[in-house]
Amino acid sequence: MALHHKGSVCVTGAGGFVASWVINLLLSKGYLVHGTVRQPEDEKNAHLFKLERAEEKLRLFRTDLLDYDSMLSAIEGCDGVFHVASPVPSTTVPNPEVEVVETAVKGTLNVAKACVEAKVKRLVFVSSAAAVGMNPKWSAGQALDETCWSDKDYCRTIKHWYSLSKTEAESEAMEFGEKNGLDVVAVCPSLVLGPILQTNVNASSLILLKLFKGGNDESETTLENTERRIVDVRDAAEAVVMAFEKTEAQGRYICTSHPIKTSHLVDKLRIIYPHPNYPNNFFDVEKDIRLSSEKLQRLGWRFRALDETLMDSLKSYQDAELLDNVIHAL
Ligand SMILES: NC(=O)c1ccc[n+]([C@@H]2O[C@H](COP(=O)([O-])OP(=O)(O)OC[C@H]3O[C@@H](n4cnc5c(N)ncnc54)[C@H](OP(=O)(O)O)[C@@H]3O)[C@@H](O)[C@H]2O)c1
Repeated sequence: MALHHKGSVCVTGAGGFVASWVINLLLSKGYLVHGTVRQPEDEKNAHLFKLERAEEKLRLFRTDLLDYDSMLSAIEGCDGVFHVASPVPSTTVPNPEVEVVETAVKGTLNVAKACVEAKVKRLVFVSSAAAVGMNPKWSAGQALDETCWSDKDYCRTIKHWYSLSKTEAESEAMEFGEKNGLDVVAVCPSLVLGPILQTNVNASSLILLKLFKGGNDESETTLENTERRIVDVRDAAEAVVMAFEKTEAQGRYICTSHPIKTSHLVDKLRIIYPHPNYPNNFFDVEKDIRLSSEKLQRLGWRFRALDETLMDSLKSYQDAELLDNVIHAL
């Protein structure tokens, strides 16, 4: 079926878990997509050209977040920009203040500046619930909304570099937008799970994959019974595109669907994919906060059932033969 051409948009960090689904959705809606990647020829980006309509409507640009001119060349000619790229390490890195925080913040400001120069209509910044909930002021059971920000000094003190990177990048993007007349809308997803389109395993999928797989000693281990706040990657992509398409969208949007204790999540996984090595022992530690996506739902956002997310995640890990290979390689 011929689709009405919706204009050109740019998605940064195109090959990643979330960005791949954002691109998939944008292509299905008829947008021409400029995707930014560090190495277009890298095998880890090959999945993008298997997406429907990618051959005709996706163009990859070789860029580096820290190289302004390369970002501008990808953004020129676009009505909208989805800034998704950001370091999301799954292990500790040697110099997180530079590799994670500085890269995220400088990269975001480069993207925002390029948006102004290229006269982009709206920048959608993919932030994180990590920019909302990391604050010692929040009390147990407190419901957090979009007025709540993580405390940068606290993130620094407890060395939670990823949260610091997202909080600082989001707040700088918002401030830059206000000063320079750029319309910036932020989406703050919680833990994003669901089927993977890419071949390498990103940090959030690894959390679920490790639970599915179990380890030889996992059943003996006592794990923190943390509350996971899950959102499906396809629903997160819908939220991100909605934040661009809905003219009335403004400010930030928390994007989360299912709060669930790790022990309850494991109970569900036992049914979906039975094996004897799931962890059995949990202890409660944290003061749980509550996150609300009411503002996003008022914009028209809906989300799918958690079981669907878990089943589809499992299927995608099986298709990619990850359940047999990955954990042993860690
Ligand atoms: N997954 C979640 O649970 C979750 C939750 C909330 C928010 N988010 C946000 O969603 C976005 C995407 O995350 P994801 O889960 O899709 O992770 P991902 O698969 O690791 O994607 C991250 C992307 O950022 C790019 N990137 C990282 N460092 C870069 C740098 N220095 N220069 C250029 N590109 C760089 C990566 O490119 P390379 O492949 O070249 O490294 C990759 O394309 C991030 O902004 C993250 O903070 C994710």
